[in-house]
Parts: sequence; structure tokens; C-alpha cells
Amino acid sequence: MNKDLISGFDIETTDIQKVFARAAQLKKQKRQPLLTGKIIGLIFQKPSVRTRVSFEVAAEHLGARCIYLAPEDVKLGQREPITDVARVLSRYLDAIVARTFKHAHVEELAQAADIAVINGLSDLYHPCQALADIFTIYERKSELDKVKIAFIGDGNNVLHSLLAITAKTGMTLSAATPKGYEPDRNIFKAAQNIAKKTGASLTHTNDIQAAVNGADFVYTDVWTSMGQEKERKKRMRDFKKFQVNSRLLKSAGKGCLVMHCMPVHRGEEISAEVMDSKHSIVYEQAENRLHVQKAVMALLLK
Ligand code: CP
Ligand code: NVA
Repeated sequence: MNKDLISGFDIETTDIQKVFARAAQLKKQKRQPLLTGKIIGLIFQKPSVRTRVSFEVAAEHLGARCIYLAPEDVKLGQREPITDVARVLSRYLDAIVARTFKHAHVEELAQAADIAVINGLSDLYHPCQALADIFTIYERKSELDKVKIAFIGDGNNVLHSLLAITAKTGMTLSAATPKGYEPDRNIFKAAQNIAKKTGASLTHTNDIQAAVNGADFVYTDVWTSMGQEKERKKRMRDFKKFQVNSRLLKSAGKGCLVMHCMPVHRGEEISAEVMDSKHSIVYEQAENRLHVQKAVMALLLK
């Protein structure tokens, strides 16, 4: 395992398998003294329910503890150079989880820190989410190379990390976004290069019907991510036809399940009917954040 988990591109397929095996074990036996006495700093520049609480609970279950550092505590990138924050915290802590606006800030922290840095969401990536999501799928269909995911919505941080992890695990992912909201071209290319070696199939379209055709899992995320609030009105117009609802699911595979990283805006990216239906495995994904992050920390901090 590399020192850090920053994007999803930085974890090898064999380490993903190790994370899944350990997560499955930790899901059965919640409390294991794997990280006794370790202290993890949570530098959060944005709000969070799942990421913050699952890391705090995960640490507690493993015998470690977290120190939560709110935006006004650290003022990352404003009060002092990020390299100084990283060097000082490396002398106090055993790991840092960082949630930032700019992805470059997580990278800078990781580069300057001697300790593990885990990306808890940046504008470009959300690797802990993608690992928990693919673990959620893996629990149901262990042959990941036979699974198709359709991602409907914004070519954002969540999609970028899903591209990385699905590429590494040989899956099929078809993303449908409105024009102008495609995933980052370089990230898509990087994922496709990995896919060539693993047999994964990654495609992009602006046609939601084509993307969901035969899909085992349909995934969506908010239309306006944290930090994009000023664009909300325009995005509401541009994404109008990209809602995951029962009509769209008719084009998907039989028994198709619905995923979302949460928080959810019912009536926008997903209809309330679908979100609260038996097809939704959204809360399972949220729960698995806890088990998977424990496994990630156990491997990074061992
Ligand atoms: N999915 C997720 O990361 O949720 P939070 O923003 O609440 O942490
Ligand atoms: N794309 C969303 C994910 C939230 C977990 C955001 O960045 O706000």
C-alpha cells in the first residue's frame, strides 16, 4: 500500500482486494484493537455527516482516536503554508484525513507529511466513497468483472474515483452526463489506460438510456457539489433530464439496484419513489463507509 490514499488511482488492485477482505472481517467483528493508541487528525474544510462520523467511530472501534479540526481551526491554505501544517501535524499524529475544496491542498499535505494522508473528499476525488461503493457491490456480486454500473449525473469527484476503482477491478462503467459536465478528460484517459490492462470497460455518453441499458447498478450523485452553490440555478436546468426515476430504471437490467453517495436531494437527481424503494442500497453504502475506512486505516497504519 502507498503511504497515502488520495484519489483511487494510488491503490493497487491487490490492495483493494486486501481492503475488501479486511472490511468484510471487520463488519462481522466490529471492535478489534488494530490501531491501539493511534491518533488521527480530521482536517475538514467542508461539512460532513458520513465521512466525519464513520472515521471517528472507525477509530474508536480500532482502539484509536480522532481529533476533529474544523475549517476555522486550521484555515487550510490561509493561515500558514500547507507544508508547515503537514510537517507539524506529522510530529503529533499518526494519520490525517483531509476534506478540502482544492484537490491540490490534499496533495500538498500528503507530499509534505511523513504520515498517511487520506482524502476525505476534494473537488476532484472521493476515494473512500468509491471503495465503499464497490465493496457494497462486491458483497452482492463477487465477480466484479461481470458487473455493469451506470453513473447518471455530474462528471464530478465521486465519478472520478469510481472510474479509478472500477478500472482497477475490471468492471464495466458507463457514465451519462449532460454536455459540458463530462468527467475530467485526463482522469478519464488515465482510467481507460488502466482498463486496457484489467479488461475493464469505461465509456461516456450524453444519453442516459444508453448508459443504463443492461446495468446491474445505477448510481447518481447531487447535481451541485459542495463549493458549486453559485451554479445551482443553471445546474438545475442543465440536469433536468438526468433524474434517476422508475421510468429510467425500466431500461436497466432486471433486478437493477440504485446507489447514491448521499446526501440525497429527493426530486432532483433521484425521485423519492426510487430512493425509498426496495431497489435502493444507499444506506448499505453509507454503512460500508465505516467498515471500509477501518480496513484502509488498518492497512495504511499497520
Ligand atoms: N458521502 C459523504 O461523503 O457524505 P458526507 O459529505 O456527509 O461525509
Ligand atoms: N459530489 C458531492 C459528494 C458529496 C459526498 C460533493 O462533492 O458535494
